[in-house]
Amino acid sequence: MKKTVAFTGMLTSAAAVLGFIIVGMFSTDISLAQDQDQATAVAIFTEHECQGCHSVQIAKIDLDIGDLEPDEIDEDAPDLSAVGLVHEIDWLKLYLKKKNKQNGEKHEKKFRGTDEEFEVLTNWLVSMKTEVETKK
Ligand code: HEC
Repeated sequence: MKKTVAFTGMLTSAAAVLGFIIVGMFSTDISLAQDQDQATAVAIFTEHECQGCHSVQIAKIDLDIGDLEPDEIDEDAPDLSAVGLVHEIDWLKLYLKKKNKQNGEKHEKKFRGTDEEFEVLTNWLVSMKTEVETKK
């Protein structure tokens, strides 16, 4: 008898868990999707060592030079919290592939991730539209 109770109990909680998973899978919550894009973009940004030169204060990304050598970083690189106020996505895409210039120079780093990563990253960058007081 005891065993049966325990077993039914297990079944009930398993069903509850499954229920949550299914609800989670089918809820097309747009803000959730945006949060995920944001998290993915931040991961791409940090993986590609953009953080060695740029902070994005509005997304709580501080400079982190990680394993980079001093000659691989540039202290004059701007914080990117307001980059969406300054540039259009098409311009950014060219710039980050070193196909156009700003102030007479190409960007210091060419983006070498996948096309999919590039889409997420550049869409996220142009959504940065908050002027912040930079620490510099
Ligand atoms: C070696 C240092 C360095 C790294 C690494 C670097 N950048 Fe930059 N980036 C710069 C500098 C310096 C500028 C400013 C150039 C200028 O204003 O002429 C800049 C400019 C930019 C701009 C335009 C900012 C503006 O307001 O005009 C964007 C966007 C940008 N970088 C994104 C990235 C991304 C994304 C990565 C990672 C894939 C990255 N950067 C990696 C140094 C770097």
